[in-house]
Amino acid sequence: MVLGSIVLYPIQTDEFGFLNPEYIKEAVKPRDYHKPTTRLLAIENTHNASSGRALDAEQMKAMADAGHEKGLSVHLDGARIFNAAVALDVPVADLTEHVDSVTFCLSKGLSCPIGSIVVGSEGFIQEADRWRKMLGSGMRQVGIIAAAGLVALDSMIERMQEDHDSARHIASRMAEMNGISVDPEHIQTNIIRFKVPPHTGNQIASRLKEEGVYINGGDSDLRIVTHYGVTNDDYEFAISALDRVMREIA
Ligand SMILES: Cc1ncc(COP(=O)(O)O)c(C=O)c1O
Repeated sequence: MVLGSIVLYPIQTDEFGFLNPEYIKEAVKPRDYHKPTTRLLAIENTHNASSGRALDAEQMKAMADAGHEKGLSVHLDGARIFNAAVALDVPVADLTEHVDSVTFCLSKGLSCPIGSIVVGSEGFIQEADRWRKMLGSGMRQVGIIAAAGLVALDSMIERMQEDHDSARHIASRMAEMNGISVDPEHIQTNIIRFKVPPHTGNQIASRLKEEGVYINGGDSDLRIVTHYGVTNDDYEFAISALDRVMREIA
């Protein structure tokens, strides 16, 4: 934003992370030299803030069509797009075919130690390469890192269903705990967003730390993410620590 002199204009999604196409069209600024020129629609799938909800192909098309109708380029922040594809049981291309560019993370659910990929037309990638060079973020001899990315794409996609199942299971256990508000039916992928009583989030985080469980604090909205390499025993450990802490707090 700072480097590109970009002005952000956030649009409220519904609780499932879907952007109403009418809101997209209304958000486009009229041609007026007092106002920034609207050029890009950026959408996210899965939608982190909506507890990792997956948007299906029809929803992706509706949002992208609204952007294109207004002459915008459409970018998909698909940091977790493979989670969406696995959750919906569709090829990932079904979710990306209507957008102009995509980024996705090899880290996160795909479990690489490092790496994100940008995908787009040849001209777009040439421009992205130029920006990468200008920002000084190019790397040489990255094959050793990229190899992990190939392993991820070959063997780590389908297994993400385990993360989704674990998340749903954890959320159903959490729904029974004192002071926690979460709807297990809402959990579709690997992210569990849950509410705790106002102003208790940081206290819960520091009590959990004493119990050996790390979680980001916050006022009353907390997040748990399931991941490869975390065993069922680890989940049990975390769930019982959370249960103990919530009994104290609530
Ligand atoms: C939705 C979303 N988009 C983008 C990113 C950034 O990914 P990276 O900078 O690792 O490519 C993240 C990472 O946390 C994310 O959650």
